[in-house]
Amino acid sequence: MKGPFSKVLLSYIVGLFIIVLIAGLIISTFVENIIFLIAVLFIVFFSVCLLFIRIYNNYILPIEKASNTIKEIGKGNYHARFHYTRNPLHNELSTNINKLARELTEFSLQEQIQSEQLSTLIDNMASGLVLLDERGYIHLVNRKFIDLFGKTEKDYVGSLYYNVLEDETIQETIQKVFLYEGRVKDTFKHYVGIENMYFEISGAPIINERNIPKGVVLVLHDITELKKLESMRKDFVANVSHELRTPITSIKGFSETLLDGNLDDKEAVSQFLEIIYHESNRIQILIEDLLSLSRLESDNFKLVLHKINALELVESLMPALTYKAERKDISFTTEVEDIQFKADKDRITQVIINLVNNALNYTPARGDVSLRIYKEDELVKIEVCDTGIGIPEKDLPRVFERFYRVDKARARDSGGTGLGLAIVKHIVEVHEGEILIDSEADQGTTITVCLPA
Ligand SMILES: Nc1ncnc2c1ncn2[C@@H]1O[C@H](COP(=O)(O)OP(=O)(O)OP(=O)(O)O)[C@@H](O)[C@H]1O
Ligand SMILES: [Mg+2]
Repeated sequence: MKGPFSKVLLSYIVGLFIIVLIAGLIISTFVENIIFLIAVLFIVFFSVCLLFIRIYNNYILPIEKASNTIKEIGKGNYHARFHYTRNPLHNELSTNINKLARELTEFSLQEQIQSEQLSTLIDNMASGLVLLDERGYIHLVNRKFIDLFGKTEKDYVGSLYYNVLEDETIQETIQKVFLYEGRVKDTFKHYVGIENMYFEISGAPIINERNIPKGVVLVLHDITELKKLESMRKDFVANVSHELRTPITSIKGFSETLLDGNLDDKEAVSQFLEIIYHESNRIQILIEDLLSLSRLESDNFKLVLHKINALELVESLMPALTYKAERKDISFTTEVEDIQFKADKDRITQVIINLVNNALNYTPARGDVSLRIYKEDELVKIEVCDTGIGIPEKDLPRVFERFYRVDKARARDSGGTGLGLAIVKHIVEVHEGEILIDSEADQGTTITVCLPA
């Protein structure tokens, strides 16, 4: 027997013993037969003791056990159960306590599942999330936020925001949300190593049901890609305008001279007209290239697939390809396997012409240019190799960008728009192929287009 109630039982028995002892002493002065008296008192004492024990077992012990079970449940041990079935009252009590424990188990399980779902959701959000209380202490930062801004959860949680969130815009956003108790939106730049990242931050107050602000929630979206696209669009417009300006200025200048009436010098007139023709040709090529790119990029662009025979295709292109090579005194060789593959014939023609033209343009006289088409590992490979000026390593990743030229002046002189490789890359991508470039300055360049056969 343990616990407070068992002590009560013991104290009752001790009390009863003392009462019986005192009663025995008093009665012994009136009674002569002491042995009889002791026997009677003994029987009385034991009878009352048995009564006490019975009352204890039937009424006090169940309450003690029920109380212990409730204490355990209160501590969070929802598996604690109470079984006492000696009388209907206890039976009902135990049933109710056990039912309560079972419901609490269910409830805590659901709560656990919900909190796990919520934390999974918060941690897997594509945006950074920060939660602050009304005094500015951070209560939660999600995984994305830590990925973007570094440090660990411990560094943030429990700290005042202005001690750990270093960015000025983040701090200002929080202050404004506290001040105006409304939503605040802003953008800012953040450096991750040497990389620039752009973020959109939105802050909102957390208001409780009595309309009292309880904190701030911040959501940070990474808008770097969007910014890049925006700057690419701006660059593109600037580049196109720039590319158009030079030939147009030239056309305007020469036609003005002609309009001024200086038409007697036949040689000069024909020279000016030649320049005007040449420059308008350049504008036409540029516009055709731009249209080509925009068609390739449009959402409803569809490839027109043909069965192409590599030998026949190259055969048909030979006059166009060899003409320039001969003029530049470059040896042009082809090595084409007799293979068939499925692709958009016009686009593949454009790829070959662009690549061979580049090779011829950037290879000095008496150099070599070769075109190979062969099948390897279920891929059709178109390889154009030259012994020309090559491309420095630092420029290699950029040559597929629109308008990018390694040597600006030289490339423009060759009549190029700087869009050729961008178009080639697009065509290869819409064919789900891959383009590889290997080049060394002053040694030569090899560009390989790999297409699924
Ligand atoms: N085979 C090559 N050898 C050396 N440099 C090359 C070669 N091919 C391309 N380049 C470099 O890459 C740049 C981009 O090539 P791209 O074909 O896109 O433009 P382009 O030749 O200047 O003009 P176009 O649009 O008329 O082809 C070129 O300006 C040149 O500097
Ligand atoms: Mg080119």
